[in-house]
Amino acid sequence: MESPFKETVLKGKTALVTGGGSGIGFAISTELGKHGAAVAIMGRRKTVVQEAAAALQAQGIRAIGVEGDVRNIEDAARVVELTVKQLGRLDILVNGAAGNFLSSAEDLSPNGFRTVLDIDSVGTFTMCNAALQYLKKGGPGKAPSEAGVILNISATLHYTAGWYQIHVSAAKAAVDSITRSLALEWGTDYDIRVNGIAPGPIGDTPGMDKLAPEEIKDDPRFEQPLYRLGEKWDIAMAAVYLASDAGKFVNGATLIVDGGIWLSHPRI
Ligand code: HXC
Repeated sequence: MESPFKETVLKGKTALVTGGGSGIGFAISTELGKHGAAVAIMGRRKTVVQEAAAALQAQGIRAIGVEGDVRNIEDAARVVELTVKQLGRLDILVNGAAGNFLSSAEDLSPNGFRTVLDIDSVGTFTMCNAALQYLKKGGPGKAPSEAGVILNISATLHYTAGWYQIHVSAAKAAVDSITRSLALEWGTDYDIRVNGIAPGPIGDTPGMDKLAPEEIKDDPRFEQPLYRLGEKWDIAMAAVYLASDAGKFVNGATLIVDGGIWLSHPRI
């Protein structure tokens, strides 16, 4: 679908997208790039991030793929530094890396619970912590008045409760809380805007393949105008909006992009 935004809205910016090699993260990487940003893609699988970067380069986007795990503090620092070294600066940090699997609370081990919080919640803070010095107003490559933006990818399932997702619900609730705290502190101190995006069910993603019960696709409500699976593009457009000056007065918000589905059903 054609973008409603000018392709220069992010011109001169550099983005780092964790989990940017596949699914929603890759769509965000692509659209940030198509709107003018240089993009660094971070992920655990070397071939995935390298192929993703090559796909962006083939579209004329300046892009690199960097292997790293957001749970590892040294990886976080190394990837942020490499991004600035190779692409010159850092303006947009997207925390998209997430772990997920279905498990009943009864069957989930404490380590399984901790693993998802380590990736989603602690990993988000770790990346923000590593990126702060580069995102600050007047940071490397930036004008004195120019500050960065953070986008944390969340979910809607913790607004109510969902089956077999106790670990992800807790992790994303923490992510939303991190968004608000950093928006307050870093918005006040450094002009950094920190926002979240909460996708609903999005088609053709690893999350959907893994998590959605088959019957969701046969649910007649999904035939109604907004009760359908979203597209990765819908989430990527929210990212372009929040990362660009179109969102310059939005701070501490988590934008729900789900067609309103969570209002009616706690399943996703
Ligand atoms: C129960 C599981 C499990 C499963 C792992 N564990 N998979 N428990 N069911 N299917 C437990 C393990 O038993 C272990 O605990 C602990 O978790 C760590 O497992 P490891 O395999 O050692 O961890 P690791 O290799 O680091 O992998 C972590 C991972 C990750 C979370 C499984 O690889 C992963 O999820 N990858 C998929 C990423 C993904 O799908 N991303 C899209 C997310 S979509 P014990 O006690 O045995 O040591 C999304 C949408 C959210 O986030 C919104 C949804 C509505």
